[in-house]
Amino acid sequence: MSSGDNAHKRGETALKATHLVKRFKTGRSYIEVLKGVDFDAKHGDVTMVMGPSGSGKSTLVAALSGLLKPDEGKVSALEASDLWSLSNGKIDKFRLDHCGFIFQGFNLFPALSAKQQVMTALKYQGVGKGEQARRAQAALESVGLGARVNQRPSELSGGEKQRVAIARALAKNPNLIFADEPTSALDGENGQIVIRLLREAASVRGAAVICVTHDPRLEAYADRVIHIEDGRILDDVRRTPDADPAPFSH
Ligand SMILES: Nc1ncnc2c1ncn2[C@@H]1O[C@H](COP(=O)(O)OP(=O)(O)OP(=O)(O)O)[C@@H](O)[C@H]1O
Ligand SMILES: [Mg+2]
Repeated sequence: MSSGDNAHKRGETALKATHLVKRFKTGRSYIEVLKGVDFDAKHGDVTMVMGPSGSGKSTLVAALSGLLKPDEGKVSALEASDLWSLSNGKIDKFRLDHCGFIFQGFNLFPALSAKQQVMTALKYQGVGKGEQARRAQAALESVGLGARVNQRPSELSGGEKQRVAIARALAKNPNLIFADEPTSALDGENGQIVIRLLREAASVRGAAVICVTHDPRLEAYADRVIHIEDGRILDDVRRTPDADPAPFSH
């Protein structure tokens, strides 16, 4: 099933989590990394999650996106009213059909070219080969990698690898986009390309974009900024994205 266009759903809730608790065992004790987090994200919004290192941001994204089961709490996302009650196979299918991921690590396959990385993601969605190639090329061009489509990860810089991961996530046209520090390996210009693409996925297609970042320059593009500290939400501020954000300089 392809995801596609949710522009008409703008403003509707795409994802909602209640009372998420996650504990990790360290030695003989447990540390509580999420301490009862309530969270929601809407179609058409870029929702930014900010907070100090170790505050639980990546853990939250993993719990919201079906990657890491919380110890308590519930996540409803799109038509899945209780994501974590589904079988593992159904959760995988949900991620495949609806989610785009841009992670701190890039998770690229070493043996595949940039274009093959993007095509593979589409293949799993059932997209035909010609269409895979066309969309992969277009997605890579949109992140400024039109001239690098045949290179493998070992032949790409850190920032280029990050852009391949972004092209791969966006080519699927996902309804939910989870980005964890998507600009951390990028210079100003490429960082700006990436945040603009995320902004566009939300504004034009109605995707719900959840973006973890330390980068204060990204706030200009956000509809909403949520601060998390020590596993709790401190504040949650709705704002209007800047009409003409200042260019990034580095
Ligand atoms: N698998 C694990 N086992 C034990 N502790 C973990 C595990 N994963 C994360 N933690 C701990 O949970 C806390 C929150 O981690 P998390 O990765 O969510 O932080 P973060 O806010 O994303 O930080 P950063 O900004 O550095 O990426 C950290 O203290 C981390 O050490
Ligand atoms: Mg993190």
